[in-house]
Amino acid sequence: MNQATKKYANYIPIRELAAIESQLSPFNVYDEMREQTPVRYDENRKCWDIFRYEDVQYVLKNPKLFSSQRNRANESMLTTDPPKHKQLRDLVNQAFTPRAIEALAPRIQEIADDLLAPHLATGQIQMVHDLATPLPVIVIAELIGVPSSDRERFKEWSDIQVKGAKNDSDEAFQELMVEKAKNHEELSSYFMNIMEQRRVLPEDDLISLLLAAEIDGQKLTDKEIVGFCILLLAAGNETTTNLITNAVRILAEQPQLQQQLREHPEMIQTAVEETLRYYPPIVAIGRVAKETVELGGQTIQAGDQVISWVGSANRDEQKFANADSFIPDRKPNQHMGFGFGIHFCLGAPLARLEGRVVLQTLLSHMDQIQLVPNTPLQPIQSAFVFGVKEYPVTFTPL
Ligand code: HEM
Repeated sequence: MNQATKKYANYIPIRELAAIESQLSPFNVYDEMREQTPVRYDENRKCWDIFRYEDVQYVLKNPKLFSSQRNRANESMLTTDPPKHKQLRDLVNQAFTPRAIEALAPRIQEIADDLLAPHLATGQIQMVHDLATPLPVIVIAELIGVPSSDRERFKEWSDIQVKGAKNDSDEAFQELMVEKAKNHEELSSYFMNIMEQRRVLPEDDLISLLLAAEIDGQKLTDKEIVGFCILLLAAGNETTTNLITNAVRILAEQPQLQQQLREHPEMIQTAVEETLRYYPPIVAIGRVAKETVELGGQTIQAGDQVISWVGSANRDEQKFANADSFIPDRKPNQHMGFGFGIHFCLGAPLARLEGRVVLQTLLSHMDQIQLVPNTPLQPIQSAFVFGVKEYPVTFTPL
């Protein structure tokens, strides 16, 4: 298997999900897979696909058997294994504890209010463009310590980081690889520049914190700091954008929820969790087998790529009663929208907070949120991300 085909699984959708309708709602396809081929090898993408909750959990909780080190080009916390992974994670954990993140609530509220203000009187908003995209970009930019005036560039960069190939030809794949490499270089030199400024004059931001941090008496290298900043952009922006848009899509598709949540604001927190289960921004997580493993009656060979479909696990009736119903106060709700195990999303407290603030704000200012009639929804072109490119809504201002 050459290098190019080895990485295919990252970027091309599975055949059964090729139609636009299935990309907009892949859940019937997942149901079939869980039923018929819960662990299967896909010759086309050269990887294993895992669909049941129990099996997905097994893969994600066994980093010794299933490594995150799939692609050495972009080395980061996300793509390292123990013990290095724990060292990196412990270093940045303090910036992401629920307590540290909760302190950002007033600022996130302010950003949400500012972004919504121009649209409230009009009764219309382009959810992705006007709110769901800029909000997380501004929050991360401020957290890392980069000027928010650069946020348009940020958006372009973070989009390319998670982009999929146009089609499944070798040419499209190579083109994408070149674009990603160029993007990585641009981002690296951008962050290097800011790092140099903070080295001279530290500020109260994440870059300054990382410059001062030490593991066992050793400082992080410049490359590691830059790698971490790029990881935050790639991991935190588009995911949170899709959490917000997917939540609004659910409110528009099931309008009775709008009044229900307005009457029971205490349910907003659990409704955010249920969004992460029902319409998760990340539907699949990749690993590579380190040893030969038996799973679901199949033999996965060392070196094989393994894709865990958390989007499918989240709808597994064996784990969730009425898995296809959105239950805003579902408890317990052990969804895998943030992954599972040692790589469980570092930014989860931040994403949850952003989701909660946005839902509260939308529901307090808008009634009868609905998709503008006859809008053809377009899925985001990615094998791993679940969301739509735009979601224009009308509403009655409150
Ligand atoms: C890891 C989802 C927001 C930073 C992950 C993983 C998932 C995920 C599924 C696990 C990947 C794996 O196991 O390979 C999401 C979703 C988000 C979100 C659905 C929004 C709703 C954020 C935000 C940040 C962030 C806002 C940072 C500001 C990270 C990092 C990791 C990660 C650094 C790697 C953790 C590790 O390797 O230990 N995320 N994420 N994420 N996420 Fe998030």
